[in-house]
Amino acid sequence: GVPPLVDLYGRTHNYLRISLTERCNLRCQYCMPAEGVPLTARSALLSRDELLRLVRVFAALGVDKLRLTGGEPSVRKDLVDVVEELSGVPGVRTVAMTSNGLALARRLPALQRAGLRALNLSLDSLRPERFEAMARRPGLPKVLASMDLALQLGFDSVKVNTVLMKGFNDDEISDFVELTRERRVDVRFIEFMPFSGNRWDDARMVGERDALAAARRAHPRLARAPPEPCRTATMWQVPGYAGRIGFISSMTKPFCSSCNRLRLTADGNLKVCLFGSAETSLRDAVRGGASDGDLAALVRAALRRKLPQHAGMQNLARSKNRPMILIGG
Ligand code: GTP
Ligand code: 5AD
Ligand code: SF4
Repeated sequence: GVPPLVDLYGRTHNYLRISLTERCNLRCQYCMPAEGVPLTARSALLSRDELLRLVRVFAALGVDKLRLTGGEPSVRKDLVDVVEELSGVPGVRTVAMTSNGLALARRLPALQRAGLRALNLSLDSLRPERFEAMARRPGLPKVLASMDLALQLGFDSVKVNTVLMKGFNDDEISDFVELTRERRVDVRFIEFMPFSGNRWDDARMVGERDALAAARRAHPRLARAPPEPCRTATMWQVPGYAGRIGFISSMTKPFCSSCNRLRLTADGNLKVCLFGSAETSLRDAVRGGASDGDLAALVRAALRRKLPQHAGMQNLARSKNRPMILIGG
């Protein structure tokens, strides 16, 4: 067969994150500036056929997990069809999605029938007024309803992503732990990361050390859950609770040495790392008549330039990159 996507540091890339849209129905402060971002012309975005073609190429190279992101993937009217098409690509074993959950509940059953297996929901506060301050729009009850419906429908995995910000939601850590008492959900506390336009400052970030200490003060019996390979989070559990909690600590404890991810932006650029400005336009190659072999060669060439790790948080804060909304996490 074809050799897998191994980079110069021995990391095998079997996981592709696909941004399906640049649009979003929320305006979270850590993700985009209040005024929004200039959107790419529709004609410059990947069409569904172009996306399907590229995913077939990636799957032939050993990519077996896809995660749909955005913007907010659920603003796509054809989301169910996209999920169905991508789930059917030979070699693809898991189709997952990261969503803000705001306008999702109604479509969850159809998404599940189409092949969606795992759902990560962004949720930064359990208090309605804070939710609205962060997201610049209301909607907390709808997100909670999506979470509970996904659990009820029996998705393989339901996770909650909570970006911790000092003085904003760091007093809610134990409330989030309580979400896991009766629900089989993984709540992951995420260190705030710097992206263009999000006014990152290390003083606003809550590091894993402090977050874990707060969780342990509230739950002294908190215990480490067994580590899983290629995972962004280290997981813990309160004995007897149905769910777990975890920490995604890209800033204070980068997991780059086990990175298995590639990213495709809505406008068809391959990013081999979440950070930095290095990008390769697969859209232009497709539109220029590239063969599957040409596309595979472009992917391998981009991967040869992937660095062993990100530049460190202070450097990232100054380095060039897209705003988060145009990457998808
Ligand atoms: P699974 O492990 O597939 O459940 O997903 P995930 O946790 O990687 O994805 P999700 O979209 O839920 O992202 C959670 C957080 O991890 C977000 O803050 C992402 O930006 C961050 N993240 C995801 N992938 C990477 C990565 O490759 N590098 C870094 N540094 N952060 C990442
Ligand atoms: N730092 C950390 N995580 C972020 N996310 C979005 N912006 C940031 C940031 N600046 C998270 C969202 C979403 C996931 C894809 O990325 O919470 O769940
Ligand atoms: Fe991978 Fe880059 Fe994230 Fe490190 S920062 S884990 S190399 S995507």
